[in-house]
Amino acid sequence: MCGIVGYIGSNQAAPVLLDGLSKLEYRGYDSAGIAVRDGGSATEIIKEKGKLRVLAEMTDNGKAVKGTCGIGHTRWATHGEPSAVNAHPHSSDDGNVIAVHNGIIENFQEQREKLIKKGYSFKSQTDTEVAVKLIDYYYKKYSQLPVEAIARAMVRIRGSYALCVMFKDYPDQIFCARKDSPMIIGIQNGESYVASDVPAILKYTRNVYYIGNMEIAKLERGNVTFYNIDSEEIEKPLTEIKWDAESAEKGGYEHFMLKEIFEQPKVIRDTINSVVNNGTVHFSEVQLTDEEMQDINQVYIVACGSAYHVGVAVQYVIEELTSLQVRVELASEFRYRKMTLNPKSLVIVISQSGETADTLAALREAKDQGIKTLGIVNVVGSSIAREADNVFYTLAGPEISVATTKAYSCQLVAGYLLALQFAKARNEIDDEKYQALLEDINTIPEKVDRILEDRERVQWYASKLINVSDSFFIGRGIDYAIGMEGSLKLKEISYIHSEAYAAGELKHGPISLIEEGTIVIAVVTQDALTEKTISNMVEVKSRGAKLMAVTTTGKYFLEDTAEFTCYVPKINPLFAGSLAVIPLQLLSYYVSIGKGFDVDKPRNLAKSVTVE
Ligand code: G6P
Repeated sequence: MCGIVGYIGSNQAAPVLLDGLSKLEYRGYDSAGIAVRDGGSATEIIKEKGKLRVLAEMTDNGKAVKGTCGIGHTRWATHGEPSAVNAHPHSSDDGNVIAVHNGIIENFQEQREKLIKKGYSFKSQTDTEVAVKLIDYYYKKYSQLPVEAIARAMVRIRGSYALCVMFKDYPDQIFCARKDSPMIIGIQNGESYVASDVPAILKYTRNVYYIGNMEIAKLERGNVTFYNIDSEEIEKPLTEIKWDAESAEKGGYEHFMLKEIFEQPKVIRDTINSVVNNGTVHFSEVQLTDEEMQDINQVYIVACGSAYHVGVAVQYVIEELTSLQVRVELASEFRYRKMTLNPKSLVIVISQSGETADTLAALREAKDQGIKTLGIVNVVGSSIAREADNVFYTLAGPEISVATTKAYSCQLVAGYLLALQFAKARNEIDDEKYQALLEDINTIPEKVDRILEDRERVQWYASKLINVSDSFFIGRGIDYAIGMEGSLKLKEISYIHSEAYAAGELKHGPISLIEEGTIVIAVVTQDALTEKTISNMVEVKSRGAKLMAVTTTGKYFLEDTAEFTCYVPKINPLFAGSLAVIPLQLLSYYVSIGKGFDVDKPRNLAKSVTVE
């Protein structure tokens, strides 16, 4: 949460900072600010409440602020309400230290009190101002060396953070440090960049360094030096980012969400092709061997948000194809449970960003217990990708819209392929079934494409839901898992109250909420469970509900029951979720824009949740 950008080079910094921040607004957008300076001149700090465009207007898109070195920030408030005072950058009273910060400093209260006793005063309610003044304190008390002052402060503060710091006495340098919050550093032709995520700097460079936990970096024009917490210089490898710059742009679409929905056929195909070769799944990149798969007897899938919903769907697939025990856990719960994990288990963490604080903590908990871990991750070089024993990269490319679509779909197919490989390695399915299932997985991209062609019907129905205040998604088995995702999509971007229920649970409470006009959306793709779900649909309809159904072409005739039916192509029911979710994504998108909301940046949310 919160986005950071820093730049030092020969160009004007402010436009680069604003441009970079615009790619990071998905990380937070309640206020924004920049600090820019030119050599030894005074640093200019401009910050304001509201989205980045407010700051852009104030600075004439950065043109009004002169200087070739600067740092910028887009905020998702944790400590202190969204306001100009609480917006970053924060500065020591004499302007000696100026910084932007992403993350949470847990012991900020204690540090703040100590600093007050030493004569510091505070203007904002933020934990960031405490970090700034702590660094200032150590800088003045000891050697007046930035790296050392930052290192001393890092030892004192608890929590997660990525910091970008400028010192008045070092006008041609920017200092960065991180612990458990993402940050990358890019270099190109005498220019240096720092950012919370790749899209912010992709336009300028693909050559990046990943700064590790509890490490510090010093940026100069076209040069970067790394230090460990003892202020000793360390070496880091330069990595090339493979994403192309266009993939982080809207490319003619009105919104990132729509663009990302339409990218799904391609990125699902890319993800499949990354492990399927000549009709066989190869996990050489994932580095999970058949022997290891045979030895595992329990799988835990741990994730947050939509990635958790992927876990719920994949659980059914693994259970259907193998004899493995599977448990799906919310990372925020898993990390605090007193669970003794089965030593022969595999913990699979699923995360688009690879930085979600709870998922990362769950991964570490599993590793502490000596359990083998596998990350299904989208962002290369992210914390989870670096710390998990094995990594299955989804190839969704940069996902900008806060509400996930393409990363979710790639995670689903990664889960199917994993389930399939487990079944094969453990001799739990024969070759014929293996081939048939793999062929079905291979048809997903083209079938998703066909569903997308039919988007206007969904758009038409979405227009009827604009004034709805309550909705329910129901389904059984995999359909329930897809309903969970459909429900989350609708509520997070259209602010319509929505709940997902296993259809069999309706009678245990939720049915009392059904009244004339309540919207119920049923997902009906699972052959063995269809009749049961249809009975539940009829039950809510007779109590006044309006029904939409998503179902498989030619299998079930739901027109008599539902007022709107959306058909998806035939596929093995194990993989039908990948198709059924598409109309639900489109529905949420069209309802949100129909209501005039900022679909890519829904209120109060951030894409990458790096705080608990
Ligand atoms: C946020 C995003 C969701 C995402 C969840 C987990 O809530 O808005 O789209 O599913 O975080 O994020 P991760 O990066 O771990 O997949």
